[in-house]
Amino acid sequence: MEKGRIIIVEDEESILMMLTEFLRGNDYLVDPFLEGKDALSALKANNYHVLITDLTMPKVDGLQLINYIQKEYIDTIGIVMTGYGSLETAISAMRLGAFDYVLKPFKFEDILLTIDSAMNYYKMLKNETIPKGLMSKSNLLKRFSQSKLLLENTILRSSLKDKYKFENILGISFGMQKIFELIEKVTDTNATVLITGESGVGKELVAKAIHYNSSRRENPLIVVNCGAIPENLLESELFGFEKGAFTGAVSTRLGKFEIANKGTIFLDEIGDMSLNLQVKILRVLQERAFERIGGAKTIKVDIRVLAATNRVLEHLVKEGAFREDLYYRLNVVPIHIPPLRERRQDIPLLLSSFLEESNRLNDADVKGFSEEAMDIMMNYDYPGNVRELKNIVERNVILKRNGLIEVEDLPEKLWKARDNHQHLDIQKGYETLVTEFEKSIIAKALQETKGVKSKAANILNLNRTTLIEKMKRLGMD
Ligand SMILES: Nc1ncnc2c1ncn2[C@@H]1O[C@H](COP(=O)(O)OP(=O)(O)OP(=O)(O)O)[C@@H](O)[C@H]1O
Ligand SMILES: [Mg+2]
Repeated sequence: MEKGRIIIVEDEESILMMLTEFLRGNDYLVDPFLEGKDALSALKANNYHVLITDLTMPKVDGLQLINYIQKEYIDTIGIVMTGYGSLETAISAMRLGAFDYVLKPFKFEDILLTIDSAMNYYKMLKNETIPKGLMSKSNLLKRFSQSKLLLENTILRSSLKDKYKFENILGISFGMQKIFELIEKVTDTNATVLITGESGVGKELVAKAIHYNSSRRENPLIVVNCGAIPENLLESELFGFEKGAFTGAVSTRLGKFEIANKGTIFLDEIGDMSLNLQVKILRVLQERAFERIGGAKTIKVDIRVLAATNRVLEHLVKEGAFREDLYYRLNVVPIHIPPLRERRQDIPLLLSSFLEESNRLNDADVKGFSEEAMDIMMNYDYPGNVRELKNIVERNVILKRNGLIEVEDLPEKLWKARDNHQHLDIQKGYETLVTEFEKSIIAKALQETKGVKSKAANILNLNRTTLIEKMKRLGMD
């Protein structure tokens, strides 16, 4: 039986044909198109579960197709294919409502994974008992916000459960699925893993998942925060010391490397470690051996090393703040966790799970988010990532205790972010938007100075003549 019906639009014929064959071989019904405009007619005539489209194509491009399926209340789920060069456009496509993007060149297996998860998502949305075709996806998404939120996500989670063994790490996005796969691949090896990503994306959670799913799980996981401890203290924390090694060393103490023997050591915030200590760590990684401070005996340990940082180590290496040799030693298996704003599909699942948990812990009964509040939560950029989202939910559960979380309940910075985006109709194109923005800046300055150009120029830190030239060019008089 077919798993679903897919429409593919790709102007490179060889890719189109190969992908079509591959997906047909994986039980999908596939309609391939070389041109956007033909795809548009097909979309109008048929029902598709999934649209996969290239972004840059002559005439009707991928963004237009995504926009079309979004606007016309068709239930089709959009996935875009793009090269590194147009990642920005891919993100615009996500904002328009695309489910996910895949970066070219991709492995066919990867795109299959994305399609399978899009199909799961589709089925989940269809579990709604609403007349077919009457509601847009965005409305359905908003339905998450109502009290059914919890129920729907329970269904979702149970259907995905056996696929992901790491139950405390939530995520249905393609980005997170890749991470689950990676975790699975590395758990039972002894490979050093470097986990990177912005603050609050879940690096520590991933480190724990690796340890607790590995054969070392019965032995300790020792976490060392290399950023928080001053250098000399960190050294004795890691390596331990012999009695009398320095004033105050009244007895021998074991370091974390020794305590972690047979288990795992997690070096968190490794990017903040001093160059001096980096050399010493390098030796432990190479030889699994070290001496306690003030000690002569070499101690051998059997440890697995995991490390994490929210800094970009490549940059630190270039700046000379991080040793290149250590970087290569750590970066055996890199796991990069994308920021939450690049995997918005995970937001509903995280919200419902944190809501459930906060309700339970606080003995509260908050049902969900109002439509408008949900809209804001879906579109906010979360500089603090999952941690920030979790804090917003917790704070609201504690303050509200029951009912729905409304827009007014959300932190002010969330509505501000929305108001900033609201007037941005990206369909207008870059040039027009920039021109509009320039006009609004000048108009505001003139308003504040009651039309006095020299004063306005002053505020804006422009020459008066430059301001007048700009106004002429922008047709402002
Ligand atoms: N995918 C996820 N599913 C569920 N909870 C998550 C997920 N990602 C992060 N969290 C939660 O978000 C919070 C922050 O995660 P964690 O401490 O692992 O982030 P981090 O990347 O180590 O952050 P930092 O760089 O600030 O140390 C934790 O409460 C964690 O449980
Ligand atoms: Mg952390």
